Amino acid sequence: MSVGIDEISFYTSNYFLDLKTLAEVQGTDPDKYYTGIGQEKMGMAAPDEDVVTMAANAALPLIESAGTEGVSTLMFATETGIDQSKAAGIYVHRLLGLNDNCRVVELKQACYSATAALQMACALVARKPDSKVLVIASDIARYDLDTPGEATQGCGAVAMMVTASPRLVSIDPEVGNYAEDVMDFWRPNYRSTALVDGKYSTKIYLKALKKAWDHFRYVSPLTFSDFSHFCYHLPFSRMAQKAHQQLVRHNKAGLSAEQQNAQIDKTLVYNRTIGNSYTASMYIGLTSLLDNTAEDLSGKRIGFFSYGSGCVGEFFSGTVVPGYRDALHAARHHEMLTARQEISHDEYLELYRHQVPTDGGEHRFAEGTTGRFRLAGISHHKREYVPR
Ligand code: CAA
Repeated sequence: MSVGIDEISFYTSNYFLDLKTLAEVQGTDPDKYYTGIGQEKMGMAAPDEDVVTMAANAALPLIESAGTEGVSTLMFATETGIDQSKAAGIYVHRLLGLNDNCRVVELKQACYSATAALQMACALVARKPDSKVLVIASDIARYDLDTPGEATQGCGAVAMMVTASPRLVSIDPEVGNYAEDVMDFWRPNYRSTALVDGKYSTKIYLKALKKAWDHFRYVSPLTFSDFSHFCYHLPFSRMAQKAHQQLVRHNKAGLSAEQQNAQIDKTLVYNRTIGNSYTASMYIGLTSLLDNTAEDLSGKRIGFFSYGSGCVGEFFSGTVVPGYRDALHAARHHEMLTARQEISHDEYLELYRHQVPTDGGEHRFAEGTTGRFRLAGISHHKREYVPR
């Protein structure tokens, strides 16, 4: 019996800052961003948007197409938690009208936790094949202003329905893991922006890739040449190019630059204009590959490298299911990205500086999001989510 991703949909904010604008204000060459880190735009969340509204907006198309029946578990992966205690998924459970017998939990390990959620979802479905698990990853990537990380900010959420006999990608059981206690990127509870040792983080990412791949080769009969495409965690798209170059070299695969690019370039299309969405980024990369590849990917094997700072790396594999195109939401994704509104640098700073009030008073937020769910306000420390 195959188990895997039956449907996938993502959401990002309707506002973006072009990195040319950021470069102009900073007096930096825009090519440093467009080419050097491979990013063109970054999504900025509206004041009435957070990981909950983005998650519900990402998952709504799945619920509209397949309903709520059989959804036994909702797993919510994020590193932008809004509460130390209550799982963000509980709000999403209500907004989507999931049944009261549905298990809900939040998972954390930096950008990796969506992969833990996916693997656990596959295990649950394998045990009870008539059940479905909704996996959602949602994050807002924030760094301090005027730091090298600033240009790699972004926001987004992705929702995946995990089922038996999936329509999109069946996931193989063999995985290669790597874990090490390192301080490359972290966000203490008292901070709203991440701390990062940028260059070190890229080195650790590459080390984790090599280690996870070597472990994968040990547990799986698959070799590099069995894969047609690779999806990497995408803090910025140039990172995937570096990672893939390393994997090609490590396997002495002898591919030309053009052949290497062809294995990853369609996974980068959405990320270039959304920015880092932490837990969601690799799965938005998968969506990008499926939505934007002209050739039929049916039967093709995809390699996935998921990375979460701190750090955990995992390499795993999946196969695209024949007929997958019928289950995609490509047109909706393209319309959403085309309809986004460009903002000025001043508007960016205003959105950047917006913080949810912490005084316990009554606060209403102006309408900014064009999504179906919004954060209307906060009252007595309780967030109030409404459909719009
Ligand atoms: N034209 C073209 N390219 C240019 C250029 C120009 N005018 N100016 C510079 N570049 C190139 C540089 O040559 C460099 O290329 P290479 O990497 O191929 O050498 C590239 O642009 C980046 O420039 P810098 O080396 O000067 O680096 P930077 O100061 O921009 O910082 C960074 C890069 C450290 C990654 C920074 O963006 C950062 O701190 N990002 C946040 C941390 C991060 O994303 N880490 C990734 C691994 S950790 C992870 O994956 C978890 C996560 O999600 C955060």
